[in-house]
Amino acid sequence: MLEDLIRRNRSYRRFDQNHSIALETLRELVDLTRLSASGANLQPLKYILSCDPETNERIFPHTRWAGYLEDWDGPAPGERPAAYIVILGDTEIKKSITCDQGIAAQSMLLGATERGLGGCILGSIEMEGLRQTLDIPQQYEILLILALGKPVETVEIEEVGPDGDIQYYRDDEGVHHVPKRSLSELVIGEYGKQFRISGAANVKPRSLSEKPTIARVSLAPDGQAVERNTRRRSHCATSRTFRENQRRLPDASASRSRSVSPTGS
Ligand SMILES: Cc1cc2nc3c(=O)[nH]c(=O)nc-3n(C[C@H](O)[C@H](O)[C@H](O)COP(=O)(O)O)c2cc1C
Repeated sequence: MLEDLIRRNRSYRRFDQNHSIALETLRELVDLTRLSASGANLQPLKYILSCDPETNERIFPHTRWAGYLEDWDGPAPGERPAAYIVILGDTEIKKSITCDQGIAAQSMLLGATERGLGGCILGSIEMEGLRQTLDIPQQYEILLILALGKPVETVEIEEVGPDGDIQYYRDDEGVHHVPKRSLSELVIGEYGKQFRISGAANVKPRSLSEKPTIARVSLAPDGQAVERNTRRRSHCATSRTFRENQRRLPDASASRSRSVSPTGS
């Protein structure tokens, strides 16, 4: 399911470096993103792939990791990415590329996650050094690097607290925590009918600082309106009708763990 895939698709920064990734896999990921949206359908992105340990070792010094973790210099030897995809913009096709690379990176990361891999989008790059190292012609603007591997860390999503701090952090057990803003903080305007099934209106909106529930209404494939709650069960509305509605959905009643393990298990 797409939502599960997106939840599992976290930024991982520590990998089992011995778990190699085949060039064919990297080519598959680019082939996947080749089908993604592109402004004016210009498709100006080009890619350099590396799963060669020696080349990887030359790429790594030009990458910058987890700026908020001030005491951490990035993955240690043995935990470094097994592969990189360097995303370039062909300036002969388009001078300034602002959006395509993000879509491409996300498509490839989702593809990697689906394959039991993980990775991190890197925008903080020592550009000139990388250009020299990989002998990248000036025609190509270096946009992003996708670092990939078999993750060996646990990442947990949590809600941004009342202090509004969005900085990720690592706890004493080495678990990486990523605060995400609530849906209600993101949606600043809504027009249109609230589409609810009868009796489910007991899911009351709360104040911005509380907002532990994200109640959503969508259409099931059979055209039925369904309401789901993406948060822990303890936060679910207690209305009987709502519970009944949940029971009708095969997966909505299962409480979702916010912890994301590398394998997604
Ligand atoms: C455009 C972009 C550039 C990024 N650059 C870096 C980077 O240079 N180094 C890094 O460690 N993480 C980088 N990240 C990863 C973000 O820090 C990460 O997405 C954020 O902390 C949220 O974590 P999540 O991806 O698990 O939701 C980048 C992400 C994006 C989208």
